[in-house]
Formats: sequence, C-alpha cells, structure tokens
Amino acid sequence: MGRSVFSHFLILSNTSPRFPSSMLRGQIPSRYFKKPEQIHPRNLPSGLGSTSFRCRCSVALPETNSSSESSSSSSSSPISAVKKRIVSGVQPTGSIHLGNYLGAIKNWISLQDNYETLFFIVDLHAITVPYEPKQLSESTRNTAAIYLACGVDTTKASVFVQSHVRAHVELMWLLSSATPIGWLNKMIQFKEKSRKAGDENVGVALLTYPVLMASDILLYQSDFVPVGADQKQHLELTRELAERVNYLFGGKKWKKMGGRGGVIFKVPEPLIPPAGARVMSLTDGLSKMSKSAPSDQSRINLLDPKDVIVNKIKRCKTDSFPGLEFDNPDRPECNNLLSIYQLVTGKTKEDVTEECREMNWGTFKPLLTDALINHLHPIQVRYEEIMSDSAYLDRVLVEGATKAADIADATLNNVYQAMGFLRK
Ligand code: AMP
Ligand code: TRP
Repeated sequence: MGRSVFSHFLILSNTSPRFPSSMLRGQIPSRYFKKPEQIHPRNLPSGLGSTSFRCRCSVALPETNSSSESSSSSSSSPISAVKKRIVSGVQPTGSIHLGNYLGAIKNWISLQDNYETLFFIVDLHAITVPYEPKQLSESTRNTAAIYLACGVDTTKASVFVQSHVRAHVELMWLLSSATPIGWLNKMIQFKEKSRKAGDENVGVALLTYPVLMASDILLYQSDFVPVGADQKQHLELTRELAERVNYLFGGKKWKKMGGRGGVIFKVPEPLIPPAGARVMSLTDGLSKMSKSAPSDQSRINLLDPKDVIVNKIKRCKTDSFPGLEFDNPDRPECNNLLSIYQLVTGKTKEDVTEECREMNWGTFKPLLTDALINHLHPIQVRYEEIMSDSAYLDRVLVEGATKAADIADATLNNVYQAMGFLRK
C-alpha cells in the first residue's frame, strides 16, 4: 500500500541538475557534494507505507512531543525511531486553484497516513510581493480551512501558520549568512516575479524567499517535500544549503559537541507528482495555472460555484484536431484537460486515453465539467462547515503550532550551538 503511495511521486533529486559546480568552486571541496543515496520506491524498505515502518534517522532528531530537555541541548536530543517526516505549504495569496490542489494539497492527503506530516500556511512568504494587509489574516484562515476541507486530517497531520512558529524567521537569518547571493540571483521565480513587479516594487524578501523556504523545510529535518514542479529549483537550493551548512558547521566538531553523525540538517527530497505537477491555464495550455494571472477565466478555483465551473470549461481554449489525446506537443490544452479529468476522476491515464480517444470537445467538456463539480462539491461543503466553526479552526492552528514549535526549536538550538553562539 505504502509502496504505491510513494510510487505516485517522482523523487527528482537524483535526476535534477544540481547547481553548477562553479557556484561552489573555491569554497567547499566538490567531493563534499556527493549525491545522496539513491532513493527509489524499489529501494525503500518493503514496510514503507505501513504504519509499522520506522526510520532511524542519522541526525539528532527531536521527537514530535519532545520535552524542553530535548530542545535545550543537542547532546540531549533524543534519537528515536520515528516515521519519516513530510512538510509542505501554500501561500495565502489569491484563491487556491486546481493547480495548487492537484500539484500539492491532494497529494498530501495520501501521505498523511504513513508519514509524520506538517502542513503550514506560508503567510511570511505571502508578503514578498505587494499585498493587502487587511486581507492577510483572512486569507490565512481560509487557506487553513481549505487544507482541512481537502482532507488534511488533524489527528494525523499538524496544520499551522508559518508566522506562529518564530523559529522559521530566526533560522532564516542564520541560513542567510551561509547562502551565496549568486544562488538566489539564479532563481527563476525571483527573476520572473521581479520582472513582473518592476524594480521599485521588489523587496529584498523576494530575493531571500528561498532561504525562508529552506528554513521551513530544514527546521523539521524533513525527509520529503511534496510540491508542484515550479518549486523544484527552490528544493534544489534547500538541499544545497543543507549540505553547505552541514559541511561548514557540522562534521567532527559538531559530533564532538553531541551532534549525531556530525550532521546538522537532513537533506530533503522533493516529491513531485508525475501528473498534476504543472496544471496549465485554461486559456493557454503553455502557461501555468496561476493565482496571479489577471483573468479568473484562466483557472478553476477550488471554491468556484457550479455555474462558474460550467462557464469556465465551456469557454476554455481547445483545438481543432480530431479525437483527444495525451502528450501531443501540438495540443497542450488537450493534454492539460485530459490530465485534469484523469486526476479528478481517479482513473488511469490508459483508461482516459481509451475512453476519450474518439471524443470531440462537445462530448468531453460536459464530462469534464461534471467530474470537476462532483470532485469539488464535497470539498466546498466541508469548507463552509469548517469556516462556520471558528473556534475549531483556532484550536487546530494553536495545536499545530505548538507541536511544530517543539520540533523547530530543537533544530534551531542545535544550529545556534553548531554555529558557535553563546548559550543562554
Ligand atoms: P503557491 O500558490 O505558489 O503557494 O503554490 C503552492 C503549491 O502549489 C506549490 O507546491 C506549487 O508547486 C503548487 N502549484 C502552484 N501552481 C501550480 C500549478 N499550476 N500546477 C501544479 N502545481 C502548482
Ligand atoms: N514556495 C512555495 C510555493 O510558492 C511555498 C512554500 C513555502 C513551501 N515554504 C515551503 C512549500 C516549504 C513546501 C515546503 O509554492
């Protein structure tokens, strides 16, 4: 069971381009940057996915319920058998759309049974572009409610707001000192967003955004990070940064101080789904579906009412080829709409290929519309229920932040210690 959950994802770190060695040259011996152990579903222990699967971690990993004792000293951090850990988050900006859902949130649900999961609302990331302060807290609550409505189960996962766990920002500062500015200048999202916003509107935080994201991940000694394909480069930076800090401040010295294995941070793996990692715009099959696209017609928002979905699918861009097919580069819209259909119906790609091969758009569009409405309706009903009980949502977020802070503070204390700060 677990095996099949895992095999839904591409673990890209082994295949993705690393930062060019020129970035590192002269600072850290290249032998240090050896590839992490090949992780592939078939290399995973056969018990992976069953609740009995346990991983003995090589770093001084705090337990979820670690006591103040564990966070006070690296040497006293308990090393215990724990489930592998997964973290991810979405920004509370604009409205959550089908891309966020199929690329990220939907995949979290299948992981929470077998992993220790922490899902946060990354409100600190949301202020890296111009935003409306009056709307920030409301969007943060709405996003939390969407997580729960989509099936994040708080008996299994911790759900919290990034800014409620102070360690995120604090670790970010420490990590900033070890992040070469050249790494940040190369980030595609920085280049794209800053080009769009114009120099006067670009704050330093947009540049240092990936350092905060690295902090979100490394604080929890995360094993895996389920995200859409657009976050792959940020994950690569996170991995490089973890290795760099481990090299600069870990090793023998850190081991002597009590750091298990001399490793400060675990190096995380991205989990990018093979389908849904890049849901495209409804008005242009070559552009990503995005919160910031000016036309709402380009995306299906998770909370779009039925008539809006009907209308958006009716008007979405198609082509005039006969039949419907996946993977034809001349038919990006067709590939996108079939992929969406596949994911919301839970059918296999082969089944959808068979079912739709002879169809025309007039037959397929109502089918897709119904599938979307059927899939989203229960989420929308649950969302309204959750939003009507604000005390419940508050409680979830307080509990989530408390659990998260326990883990995060232990890591943060270790980093302070390894970096040579005077202890309190
Ligand atoms: P953001 O809205 O930028 O906070 O993205 C939250 C999550 O949704 C991240 O894991 C993204 O990779 C994912 N995501 C955003 N847009 C898309 C898209 N069009 N297709 C697939 N995943 C996406
Ligand atoms: N940068 C991610 C995005 O825009 C959101 C994010 C912030 C994130 N911190 C994270 C995702 C940590 C996964 C893990 O989509």
